[in-house]
Amino acid sequence: MTSLFLDTLKGKFTSRPPVWYMRQAGRVLPSYLKIKEKYSFWQLMKEPELAAKVTLLPVDDLGVDAAILFSDILVIPYALGMGLDFTDRGPVFEKPLKNFGNPVTRLKPEPEKLGYIYDAIEQVKKARTANTPLIGFCGAPLTVLSFMLQGLGSRSDFSDAVKWMFSHREKLPALIDAVTELTLVYVKNQIKHGIDAFQLFETNAGLIPNEFYRQVFLPSVEKIATVVRDAGIPFIFFPKGIGSGLQMLGPQHADFISVDWLTPLERARNILDTSIGLQGNLDPRLLFADKKNIETELKNYLNFGRKYQNWIFNLGHGFLPGTPFENARFVTDWIKEQTWR
Ligand code: CP3
Repeated sequence: MTSLFLDTLKGKFTSRPPVWYMRQAGRVLPSYLKIKEKYSFWQLMKEPELAAKVTLLPVDDLGVDAAILFSDILVIPYALGMGLDFTDRGPVFEKPLKNFGNPVTRLKPEPEKLGYIYDAIEQVKKARTANTPLIGFCGAPLTVLSFMLQGLGSRSDFSDAVKWMFSHREKLPALIDAVTELTLVYVKNQIKHGIDAFQLFETNAGLIPNEFYRQVFLPSVEKIATVVRDAGIPFIFFPKGIGSGLQMLGPQHADFISVDWLTPLERARNILDTSIGLQGNLDPRLLFADKKNIETELKNYLNFGRKYQNWIFNLGHGFLPGTPFENARFVTDWIKEQTWR
């Protein structure tokens, strides 16, 4: 496969930075919103033909350089026996773990509940045009556990989950191990079925103090990174909100680090080891501005991209619901049209 995205991840020279977006399928495309009128989110994920179709929509509609598997980070708690429903208020679990004295005993790993995702990967391989790399992904243990403990997804500051973590620190390792173990099975299977790159979403990295994160959660990130990289698959880590905690991260944690909008790319570049590539970091809310304002902000990326090869253009977090599609398309085209080298 010839791919700007994969070449950049592997440290090769490319004519321009590659571009893709977090949440590029499920929030911004008119074609997705149309399909969503007919099917529920679970149907879209579980029917391999539909999942593959939605996975590939952004490649055609936005012109991005990679597709990301259409799934969700919460399939791991689902396969640990936590009933999961996607409601208008976001994801909800039947029984939040914070309600149990010893939550790990509630978890019943059923790896076969993830089988439909591997079928979707096979289907993407059949349906894609040549040279479209597929990114596999999952959530990192802190993010996944904060949803599991809290029980409810969006519009939550996860404060019950964090209170629980502080007051039951001795019970945390067993929970983290349970999530990590199933995650490793899941990741190995994604690789076996043919993903080309991998991103680990630690969306809630900023939920707890950096030092707590380093001691308790970071070793699991390294385990996941090692399994992926040992299989020859490039590994991107997205620790949203980690702030100055970036300095805890080293080459053992990732090939590329995805940076949120709070940390300027130049700053991240100065902090991180030169062997680690960067991804990011446009503020997704900027896409609600007009094209002139968007372009002013985009121009700031030119110097960075001309100076550094090992950078992938992306957002600092996923597209927000309601993002004007024309603006997303404008940003993609703009990045692809500049003279970078
Ligand atoms: O482009 C894509 O959307 C790709 C697939 C994808 C989804 N979720 C689909 C989805 C990816 C990469 C994710 C990751 C994810 N899921 C994260 C990490 C990245 C991030 O955005 O922070 C997190 C924290 C979740 C958990 C989650 N899943 C939440 C908070 C919600 C509700 C709000 C929302 O719309 O994101 C979901 C549901 C979900 N995941 C939907 C989609 C398309 C919406 C389902 C629906 O509309 O019924």
